[in-house]
Amino acid sequence: MATGRRVGVVGAGQLARMMAQAAIPLDIHLVLLAADANDGAAQVVRDVIVGSPDDPAKVRELAEATDVITFDHELVDPDFLATLEAEGFVVYPSAATMALAQNKRRQRAELAAIGLPIPAFADVESVQDVLDFADQHSWPVVLKASRGGYDGRGVWMLADAAASEVAVAEAHTAGLTLLVEECVVLDLELAVLTARRPNGDIAIWEPIETVQRNGMCNELVVPVQTESRIAAEAVTIARRIVEHIQPVGVMAIEFFVSNGKVLINELAPRPHNSGHWTIEGAQTSQFEQHLRAVLDLPLGDVSRTSPVVATENIIGPADNSNPVDRLPHALLIHGTHVHFYGKGARAGRKLGHVTVLGDDRDETRQRASLAIQQLTGEALP
Ligand SMILES: Nc1ncnc2c1ncn2[C@@H]1O[C@H](COP(=O)(O)OP(=O)(O)O)[C@@H](O)[C@H]1O
Ligand SMILES: [Mg+2]
Repeated sequence: MATGRRVGVVGAGQLARMMAQAAIPLDIHLVLLAADANDGAAQVVRDVIVGSPDDPAKVRELAEATDVITFDHELVDPDFLATLEAEGFVVYPSAATMALAQNKRRQRAELAAIGLPIPAFADVESVQDVLDFADQHSWPVVLKASRGGYDGRGVWMLADAAASEVAVAEAHTAGLTLLVEECVVLDLELAVLTARRPNGDIAIWEPIETVQRNGMCNELVVPVQTESRIAAEAVTIARRIVEHIQPVGVMAIEFFVSNGKVLINELAPRPHNSGHWTIEGAQTSQFEQHLRAVLDLPLGDVSRTSPVVATENIIGPADNSNPVDRLPHALLIHGTHVHFYGKGARAGRKLGHVTVLGDDRDETRQRASLAIQQLTGEALP
C-alpha cells in the first residue's frame, strides 16, 4: 500500500514516464490521466484513468484522487483548471500559467510589457498583416501558430508573399491563431531550466546548448560554449521571468542568441526536452525537481555531475525499424544511458534519448552520436 503523497498527471507521454521514474524513491504515488492505455507512462504506472484531457469529468476524477495535479503537456482547458482551483483543488502550474503557456502571442506580449528582449513580432489576422510586417522587417519572416505547436510543427519560414498566402490559408483552415516574427540570425540556441516551489524558492540549472534539426531540438550540450556574458544574461532573464510569472514546478525558457544578443523564444512550464540531460547530468533531475516543487518540498541541488553532458534524441529511422532492437550495440558504448519512451517506432518520431557523460566536449558528443547511430542504423546528417 503506497503511503506517500499523490500527484495526478494529465497526460501519459514520455514526461510522465520519466516523472514516474523519479517518483519511486520518494514514495510519491502517481495517478495518470492517459488518452490511451498504451501511452508511454501508462505502460509503467499502475494507477491510470483512461480519458481525454478535454473531458472535464476525467480531469476532475484525477484531481479528486490526488493531492495536486500537474501536466505532461499543455493541451488542457485553462478555464476548467480555474474552476478546479476555485473549488480548492491544487493545480500546479496554475490555470493562469497554463493559459500563458498555451499562447505564444500572450507570452510575447507579457514579456514585452516587462521590457524583456524578444524578437519583433505582430499578431496576424490576415495575410496582409504578414506582408505589412515583412515590409518593415524584410523577408524571410517566421509565421507561428499561437497554440498547439511543438517540434517545429506550427512554425513556417516564409520567403515571400506567395508562400505567405499559402501558409496563412492553410493555418486558417486548420483554425489556428497566428503571429509573425522576424527571422533572426541564430548564433546558437540556449535553454534555461528553472524550478519554483509555492513558497517562492527558485532553483535554476546552468544554461543548455540546444541544437535543432528540422525544427526539432535534437541535441543538448552542457556546459554551453558561448561567452560567459551571454550565459549569465540568459540566467538573469530566466530569473526575472520566473519572478514575474511565479510558476510552480519546472519551467523551461528557450532562447535565441542572435548577433551576440539574447532573445527569449518561448516558455514551457513543465519538464522539457531541453532538460533530459539532468537525469544523469545534474544532482537533481528536472523530473524529481518538478515533483518536489508541485508538492512544496525543498528543491534539490542543480549542479552538474560531470564536466560535460551530451544528450541526443533517438529518432525513428527512415526504414521504420525499431531502435530498441539495436539496444545491445548502443550499450557497448562506454557510459551510454539509454532512455526509451515506450512509443511505437515510426520514421521521424522521437522515440527516446541517450545521455553520455564525459570530460571532453567533442569526445562526449561523439560518443552520444555514436550511440544514436548504433540505435538507428543511420549516419547522422
Ligand atoms: N524567429 C525565428 N527566427 C529564426 N529561427 C526561428 C524563429 N522562430 C523559430 N525558429 C526556429 O524554429 C524552432 C522551433 O520554433 P519554436 O517557436 O520554438 O516552436 P516549437 O513550439 O515547435 O518548439 C526554433 O527552435 C528555431 O530553431
Ligand atoms: Mg521551441
